[in-house]
Amino acid sequence: MRSCVRSGVVAAAAAALLAAAVVPASAADGQSSRPAPGGSGAGDAYFPFAGNSGYDAVHYDLDLRYQPPAAAPAPLAGQLDAVATVTIVPTRHLTGFNLDLRGLEVESVVVGGRPAEFAREGDELIVTPKTILPRGKAVDVVVAYGGATGRPTDIEGALYGWVTTRDGAMVASEPEGSMTWFPVSDHPTDKATYDVAVAVPEGLVAVGNGDLVGSSTANGWTTWEWSSREPMASYLVTASVGNYELRQWTTPDGLLNIDAIDRDLAPAASAGLAQTAEMIAFFETKFGPYPFSSYGAIVDDDSVGYALETQTRPIYSTRANEGTVAHELAHQWLGNSVSPARWQDIWLNEGWATYAEWLWSEHDGRTTAAENFADVMAIPADNGFWQTIVADPGPLGLFAGAVYDRGAATLYALRLEIGDEAFDALSVEWPTRYKDSVATTEDFQALAEELSGQDLEEFFDVWVWTAGKPAIP
Ligand code: TRP
Ligand code: ZN
Repeated sequence: MRSCVRSGVVAAAAAALLAAAVVPASAADGQSSRPAPGGSGAGDAYFPFAGNSGYDAVHYDLDLRYQPPAAAPAPLAGQLDAVATVTIVPTRHLTGFNLDLRGLEVESVVVGGRPAEFAREGDELIVTPKTILPRGKAVDVVVAYGGATGRPTDIEGALYGWVTTRDGAMVASEPEGSMTWFPVSDHPTDKATYDVAVAVPEGLVAVGNGDLVGSSTANGWTTWEWSSREPMASYLVTASVGNYELRQWTTPDGLLNIDAIDRDLAPAASAGLAQTAEMIAFFETKFGPYPFSSYGAIVDDDSVGYALETQTRPIYSTRANEGTVAHELAHQWLGNSVSPARWQDIWLNEGWATYAEWLWSEHDGRTTAAENFADVMAIPADNGFWQTIVADPGPLGLFAGAVYDRGAATLYALRLEIGDEAFDALSVEWPTRYKDSVATTEDFQALAEELSGQDLEEFFDVWVWTAGKPAIP
């Protein structure tokens, strides 16, 4: 009930926002020729102010310096000082534009080499450059900012964003927590490449996504440089800091892995990583080639209460269990390569990752996918589990159990409905066709229909658009 009321309010706000955005576009000249400010959201009904409109962010160059908290009993607060260079390409002639930024202080904004005016309003950093930014012409936006870091929480109250820990920070930003640590167009529809450099007190390690470009130490500070050449959704960016040991190794197929394991953890905490190479090889047979240039795990002795599939380098709270390791690995194809176009489509992440856990379990000689499916279908029809609308769970239902388990059961049922051959093709084609992009539930249904030659309207209606327990196909 509470979640329905809240999502109604959010949806109404989004509708108002979309209506406002439609006005200039419908003017006689069309939106491309008349200069105007960009909008404050990407049009997501769940998070109306996440992301922005009027431009594409194509690259982020983040230069951070981070001082973790002093030893207890000092407060759990760190200090961040940073310069973010965001390369944006205007999609219309822009008189101004927004970035998302929550908390922290902005010192200066420079656009195309010239100081710009800026203002803060809620989570919006509103930038007014000296001159109009022409459509299609890339321009660098340099934001100097910083301040004290705390322990931000998402709308459900879960820790997310730049979560300060005693020995560093755990950075896990789903769904719109990247704005807690850098100015960003914080929505999956605006993927970009990243170069991230983090200076931390000597002895600590900062771990980012993608490739380790280098590290260098001077005056008691070590700067760790990471580079992500493949486009990435903002919620998948990490720059976690801790007392990590870096372990580099290569799979038999030649994929570089960089694991960061907290030195304060017992070996058992990372035992679940042991079969990572076998898992990668197995999922490649199911979902196609691993989509990125490297992989690895971050296992921290601190906790945000969950694991996150941060791109190329998932982060685990206190321990990496084998099932969770399979889950976060599967997300690299399903969630990271193809990402949700709207947050309501999150079942395409969590349903697939949970289904992949079932496949791995079966492959590894434990519970089969059929048994896991039967377990879900054994939940009584009057259980509240069946009340979540999988393809529209509401902003407070993003991580509801049904998004994962009914989502996975939906995929298993779809496999029964269209047969193994069409389903296998779908499992490869989904992350391939939408590689480095985003897609909706409607896109997924369309692809399933294309590959199976079946009309699946009623199937999707019953399984993901309607509450209540479906019948087994
Ligand atoms: N997306 C994560 C996963 O399934 C889970 C996650 C992100 C989460 N934020 C959360 C779970 C908040 C509970 C609460 O791998
Ligand atoms: Zn997941």
